[in-house]
Amino acid sequence: MALVLGIESSCDETAVALVDSDRRIVAQRIASQDAEHAPFGGVVPEIAARAHAERLAPMIDGVLADANISLTDCDAIAATAGPGLIGGVMVGLVSAKALAMATDIPLIAINHLEGHALSPRLADESIDFPYALLLVSGGHCQILRVDGVGKYRRLATTIDDALGEAFDKTAKILKLGFPGGPAVERKAMEGNPRAVPLPRPMVGSGEPHFSFAGLKSAVLRAHESGRYEVADIAASFQQAAVDCVTDRLRIALRSMIGVDTLVVAGGVAANATVRGALEKLAADHGMRFAAPPPALCTDNAAMIAWAGIERLGQSDPLDISARPRWPL
Ligand code: KG4
Ligand code: ZN
Repeated sequence: MALVLGIESSCDETAVALVDSDRRIVAQRIASQDAEHAPFGGVVPEIAARAHAERLAPMIDGVLADANISLTDCDAIAATAGPGLIGGVMVGLVSAKALAMATDIPLIAINHLEGHALSPRLADESIDFPYALLLVSGGHCQILRVDGVGKYRRLATTIDDALGEAFDKTAKILKLGFPGGPAVERKAMEGNPRAVPLPRPMVGSGEPHFSFAGLKSAVLRAHESGRYEVADIAASFQQAAVDCVTDRLRIALRSMIGVDTLVVAGGVAANATVRGALEKLAADHGMRFAAPPPALCTDNAAMIAWAGIERLGQSDPLDISARPRWPL
């Protein structure tokens, strides 16, 4: 059995985890920086990088202590090498390099998006390739065909905002606080999803791409009109977003021959309304639906360690660069 230490620091979660090849999360710690960024209503890169630098080393020690093992018991060290906020990515990657150098354990540089993309397989061993993947996070909104580790074909992306970004901007407009996605979801529970007429950008287009900028502007106009309750705007926004996602997926699935599983991953996959709509869509298409548990949807290091397990045997050079942009 193999054991991998995972390190994640690409946005505002500092996370360390130990995962084994039997899909056990042996130990993990996550330090959220919500309190630091909340006064600014969004993630401040410089603050994030400093917080990662302060917390990461003690967290690595802590996770090893929780599992009662030493670093040399690990078969690899997997760290997010991008995409993300470059200062934070560098803190995690350089720490992993130092550990790898000191111990001669292989370093595996992980694409954060691959961490999300493979996370459903950590949660459920029966999920096999190929699968259709909706990857929805704060920075990305994509539909991919996943044929294997490293075998990703992107069928759709967003022409402006990511879905998580749209949730975050809506939360800001509605003054619901930070982080935005969960705040919008909570508020939407009290509202009527049909109360506010909002657009469904791209719906009906033959290409499966996304656009959310127009929806966000419509949310702003609805709020400024003073005619609607905040809860109704939140619920109507969430419904419009879900309608966009299901329509876009319907188009993308047409070209996915031989794929019988639909998977959702990334922070927005924690949203119960999104999950429910996708589950129904999958059923309509006679497909199996899978979503990792919400704690594995938002940023974490278990998914990075798991991607390391999937990539065992790979060893990246110690001069590998951190990448702010890194398409799958
Ligand atoms: O994957 P993630 O933790 O970080 C990135 O890689 O971006 O995703 C964070 C995004 C944020 O935009 C956040 O608002 C959104 O996921 N999010 C949600 C929910 N939980 C997190 N959006 C909607 N509903 C949620 N429950
Ligand atoms: Zn992420």
